[in-house]
Amino acid sequence: MALVYDNSGIQLHHGDCMDVLWTLGQVDATFVDPPFNWGMWYGDYPDNLTPTAYLRWLSDVFAACAARMGTDASLVWLWEPRWMDNVADVTPRNYATRTTGNWGRTVWAKRGSPTIERDPPVDALSTVTLPDGLHPDVTPLDATSDILSWIADPGDTVLDPMCGTGTTLVAAKLAGMNAIGIELDEGFCDIAIRRLNAT
Ligand SMILES: C[S@@+](CC[C@H](N)C(=O)[O-])C[C@H]1O[C@@H](n2cnc3c(N)ncnc32)[C@H](O)[C@@H]1O
Repeated sequence: MALVYDNSGIQLHHGDCMDVLWTLGQVDATFVDPPFNWGMWYGDYPDNLTPTAYLRWLSDVFAACAARMGTDASLVWLWEPRWMDNVADVTPRNYATRTTGNWGRTVWAKRGSPTIERDPPVDALSTVTLPDGLHPDVTPLDATSDILSWIADPGDTVLDPMCGTGTTLVAAKLAGMNAIGIELDEGFCDIAIRRLNAT
């Protein structure tokens, strides 16, 4: 694991998020578009765990993210319909959730009682792009910017524990937020660094 980018409030760690998360300080919000366990090619990540192993892994990742967040912070993730019966299985303890969307569901989780004021954005994944085979599943930048604006303010620090090509980091930079990204695959880290340098 290594810090491969650290500039103007944006950090990118190359490594397994479960190794990196425990080394981080507090963050203000977490946004993540995790693998959906549908056999997608993600370089170093095998996207074909058993359902039980997948849910346990995601639950562990989200719990580790929650441990880095303050009491009023939001965790938002994108998911697909077939997992929506399992939201409670992966939601951190004492978090309330609200979901929306058709294909790409958005799950917004917050600590305490369900006092989330706004609905999550609808169909955040509806315009998924596949740029030249560089990464199979890049989150749309406009949807990412939209979601970040709902859960964080300029100057806040946003965490993306599986940041792929760095869309969350780019969106945070454009919004004047700080960000910490973690990505397992070195090639995707290289793409994220190129995108950040071009932003
Ligand atoms: C759906 S993609 C994220 C796409 C990203 N939002 C973007 O716009 O490029 C999920 C990412 O999680 C990464 N990943 C899977 N397991 C990981 C782990 N244990 N630690 C860090 N990253 C991981 C995969 O390599 C993949 O790039």
